[in-house]
Amino acid sequence: MKLDLQFVRAQFPAFLEPSLEGWAFFENAGGSFPCIQVINRLTDFYMKNKVQPYYPYPASTKAGEMMDESYRRMAAYLNVAASEIHFGPSTTQNVYVLAHAMRPMWEEGDEIIVSCQDHEANAGAWRKLANQGIKILEWHVHPETGLLSLDELEGLFSDRTKMVAFPHCSNVIGHINPVKEISQRAHKYGALSVVDGVGYAPHGFPDIKELEADIYLFSLYKTFGPHLGLMYVNKTLIQKMENQSHFFKEGITRSMLTPAGPDHAQIGAACGVLDYFDAVYEHHFDQEANASQRNNALNKMFREHEKALLEHLLIFLRSRDDIQIVGPDHATRRLPIVSIIPRHKSMAKVYASLTKHKLMLGTGDFYAVRPLMDMGIPLKPGVLRISFVHYTSMEDINQLIAGLKNAL
Ligand SMILES: Cc1ncc(COP(=O)(O)O)c(C=O)c1O
Repeated sequence: MKLDLQFVRAQFPAFLEPSLEGWAFFENAGGSFPCIQVINRLTDFYMKNKVQPYYPYPASTKAGEMMDESYRRMAAYLNVAASEIHFGPSTTQNVYVLAHAMRPMWEEGDEIIVSCQDHEANAGAWRKLANQGIKILEWHVHPETGLLSLDELEGLFSDRTKMVAFPHCSNVIGHINPVKEISQRAHKYGALSVVDGVGYAPHGFPDIKELEADIYLFSLYKTFGPHLGLMYVNKTLIQKMENQSHFFKEGITRSMLTPAGPDHAQIGAACGVLDYFDAVYEHHFDQEANASQRNNALNKMFREHEKALLEHLLIFLRSRDDIQIVGPDHATRRLPIVSIIPRHKSMAKVYASLTKHKLMLGTGDFYAVRPLMDMGIPLKPGVLRISFVHYTSMEDINQLIAGLKNAL
């Protein structure tokens, strides 16, 4: 099924916004445009239900219902149980809380493996456990390709390994890691898998059950939604963690990993992303399907569209000897997150020229400091990152190519 881009873009007010007219957006890995369904839900919550939720008076009951709906429907889309969904302020903060909740599960001298392909969100908080008696083993990336090797991982396991932290997809080289295989290897050693899905989820929500990860995290503000982090935690695992909330929240799993208390309105608005997905599904498909099946169908359609654009872009990038592509330069097992380094001109000049061409991009290290260090790439100026999602058009890509030709 071919994606109806006109229908898709009509769901995003940013594409109708006069001040953004003519600008092509390629910093989606930093944060996507929100869909209208999320904006409407958020506005509605603020206008009618911005009260303490879960009391019996109507405005409060409705606020609680809106929040519960997000837990329930997110779970159905991700193919997990509603009690396994947790909303926190961001993925970075969710991992920080997890590290505190999980440390008491382990003994002095136990080991955890932390990949060097991660954004610092799924690295720093784990590494800090070295100060609390946990041994950290680094799973380095290949210095040229930026890829993680499963053979190398195998050599890091021991009978004291408790956890492996790694990304589903790198936020600088866009390569997709085999989460299921890595999770199964971890389980063979009795270790847990903790997967940063922030780079992956904007390109289609995963079927988390299928991936066999114990913990999976992503950020809703990069998946067309409000500024929240969503985390899945296996329901038997959470029982073993230390409660991070008030003492009287012990055993209330929805609270145990959100010490600050969640943002009610944003949680209520989160399932606006699924209103959007459902609208796209109904526009393209006739068959009745449950949430997980709808998700799978949408994933295929989004991926096909993104892949065609990515191949077109990579053909251009490969044709230029004045561009270094960081990581794999083909579209296989890859999402549209492409980092490049100009070989002959300064990053600042290239960037300024691209901005003149009405191209919205980012440069720097994108908090993927360790991957860049492993690959020997100077953090300043870092890389120029091109990232797009399914609402991006071929016209956008051609505008980018024209801009790059001019800038280089
Ligand atoms: C791959 C990846 N992981 C984690 C994060 C951190 O997410 P958050 O801003 O929700 O803490 C980002 C943010 O850019 C990211 O790209």
